[in-house]
Amino acid sequence: MRILAIESSCDETSAAVLERKDETISVKSHVTATSLAMHAKTGGIIPENAAREQVKFILPVITETLCEYSKNKKQKTIISNWEGARKILENEIDAIAVTSGPGLIGSLLVGVETAKVLSYIYGKPLVPVNHLLAHLYANFIKKNQESKNNNQNNLQPTTRRTEPLGGAYDLQHETQNPKPISLPFIGLIVSGGHTDLLMFQSHNTYTWLGGTRDDAAGEAFDKVGRLLNLAYPAGNEIERRAGLIKNTEIIFQSPMIYSKDFDFSFSGLKTEAMRFVTKQERLDEATINQICYATQKAIIDVLIRKTLKAVEKYYCKTVLVGGGVSANQTLKRAFDSIINNQESKINIKFPEKEYSTDNAAMVGAYALMNYKPVEWEKVNANPELYFS
Ligand code: KG4
Ligand code: ZN
Repeated sequence: MRILAIESSCDETSAAVLERKDETISVKSHVTATSLAMHAKTGGIIPENAAREQVKFILPVITETLCEYSKNKKQKTIISNWEGARKILENEIDAIAVTSGPGLIGSLLVGVETAKVLSYIYGKPLVPVNHLLAHLYANFIKKNQESKNNNQNNLQPTTRRTEPLGGAYDLQHETQNPKPISLPFIGLIVSGGHTDLLMFQSHNTYTWLGGTRDDAAGEAFDKVGRLLNLAYPAGNEIERRAGLIKNTEIIFQSPMIYSKDFDFSFSGLKTEAMRFVTKQERLDEATINQICYATQKAIIDVLIRKTLKAVEKYYCKTVLVGGGVSANQTLKRAFDSIINNQESKINIKFPEKEYSTDNAAMVGAYALMNYKPVEWEKVNANPELYFS
């Protein structure tokens, strides 16, 4: 089965073509346009601006994704316009998947309504996808050691594109996941707006174990970043700066680390960092790096402790991590080193970095693993969509 996936929940406009053969999901083309540079200037996302950018990008991104698919498949006729892209959609795509929530209503509507129109006109089944669950299912995308990001393209300087697996639709070059994902598994979602722990008994049966009571993990990175005058979103830069030092005497508490539940709270961390910053006469580079280190450590410590507590309580040996914060390699290494020192090995999965932050490939992966089409009239954008 081959699917066209669309993601437009926030400031990224993304489309991808994915294919499922048996248990293997491969990305055949993937194009993402982002309005992040615009939001960096305002220090955060202004929803109306994000929605306007979605309108601007949605059709070019879908068209380019379908053209890329054709190019990667080495089809004889090179296509570069909607006329050609339309034929690919008609003849080669079996279904359409779209993020239906949660997210910003204006941004979501652009992707959802476009997907509905395409579904209606071309008679393709439509699969609405929960963005948060999709983050976890990015782990089902076949890993590709040869994949690379290519920033040179003709759409916009802010567009990134994923090369197909093996470079040119050549399955022989695909690499195998070392360990396949088996059910049941625990899911840790760590994004800019959400932090949640879930337990999956099957692909469509899961239990919510706990989540943040206030700020999300990514939000904590971003808010501390703002205090330090770092560009939005700050997670990546905080990780980079923390990596410049080996240790610090600054200690920030990991909120709720010893609470008996699976909940999180990160708003206190921002307050603690703010108090510390206010006391400083001047904020030099060395102090900024130390604050970054202490912030990252406080977040990582609580994420790991609560996740491993869930592993122990539910005797579950597989953990999937997803969401923008899963791009944090320090978090990945910290998990790996703890797990490697344990007797009973846990199979922990992080998505490839390009599928950690918002992207359409994860939306397609979820739809291919949970293929549940809904009549287009019944698909609606739902900014509050959570776990049901
Ligand atoms: O999942 P995502 O792309 O968007 C939402 O659905 O919210 O997550 C964005 C979040 C931002 O808060 C950003 O600071 C954070 O992911 N992030 C990181 C890193 N890269 C992105 N946080 C920590 N370390 C990183 N390397
Ligand atoms: Zn996200």
